[in-house]
Amino acid sequence: MTVAPAHFPLARPRRLRAAPWIRRLVAETLVTPADLVWPLIIHDGGDARVAVPSMPGIDRLSPAEAVKAAREALDLGIPAVALFPNISATAKDAVGSGATDPDGLVPETVRAIKDAVPEIGVITDVALDCYTDHGHDGVLEDGRILNDASLERLAEQAFIHAHAGADIVAPSDMMDGRVQAIREALEANSFSDTLILSYAAKYASAFYGPYRDAVGSAKALTGDKKTYQMDPANTDEALKEVALDLAEGADMVMVKPGMLYLDIIQRVAEAFKVPTFAYQVSGEYAMMRAAIANGWLEEDRAILESLTAFKRAGCSGVLTYFAPQAARLLNA
Ligand code: PBG
Repeated sequence: MTVAPAHFPLARPRRLRAAPWIRRLVAETLVTPADLVWPLIIHDGGDARVAVPSMPGIDRLSPAEAVKAAREALDLGIPAVALFPNISATAKDAVGSGATDPDGLVPETVRAIKDAVPEIGVITDVALDCYTDHGHDGVLEDGRILNDASLERLAEQAFIHAHAGADIVAPSDMMDGRVQAIREALEANSFSDTLILSYAAKYASAFYGPYRDAVGSAKALTGDKKTYQMDPANTDEALKEVALDLAEGADMVMVKPGMLYLDIIQRVAEAFKVPTFAYQVSGEYAMMRAAIANGWLEEDRAILESLTAFKRAGCSGVLTYFAPQAARLLNA
């Protein structure tokens, strides 16, 4: 690109910023409700809604409340919701049996949403952490996470979600080969149209804390997830993970967390030109909510600026707990 040299006073970049109409006209990035995915925490505790203390404004929802949220998403122009289950502690075990229960909380909620609001996309989380009494995403034996034994469980879990009507299964477990295992299981069972959104570059982050509270896996978790989630120090490894997941049959990829990993998002989006998503995770949400609650950040502007940054970095869309609020602002 060659640009004729011009300097002040001929060059005055402020001309393009002088009024709202010209700023709108030349904006390079646009956020719309269609860019948002709304993560819903669902629970099997019976109550309609239970507040999550570390995520102000977020409630755990009963399946019926999740249906209402899905309808709200549709009305707001949000294309999809993503489900994350809080399973009662008594239903958890070492292998995460609940993950493959066809009548479990997630399949039940998927069916309820697809019955009532078929137009909304439903994304499910494929991982065992919400179902295991040790809080890990895979099968644990003698203190080690077994990769290949986990694959069978994850593939079965994905199949059960697809069977219940999930449009997109999203493996967030970070086992090697899981996308292939899931893709093969879907193909073998006539679910060749089910999309896979892989959490391809998922980092071992401190910013998942409030989520683990929300789904109730925090208390259970023994040790950390560093043998499967990525080291926050790495970039090239993210590109390798994305390449593998695409080769194994992923349709879309995700980088997680989001705000702290915009550099990764940008590199992935540029390198692969596939739909690239980011997850503005619970810790990022909680951090902003806390500052907003203290009056230290201006609520609406901070939320929309954070979402603009994701789009600017190259995201197709963002999973964000701010989704309904942001959509309302964008629709106003
Ligand atoms: C795990 C999973 C996690 C999140 C989504 N799926 C956390 C983890 O890896 O411990 C985090 C979401 C958030 O922090 O908002 N399968």
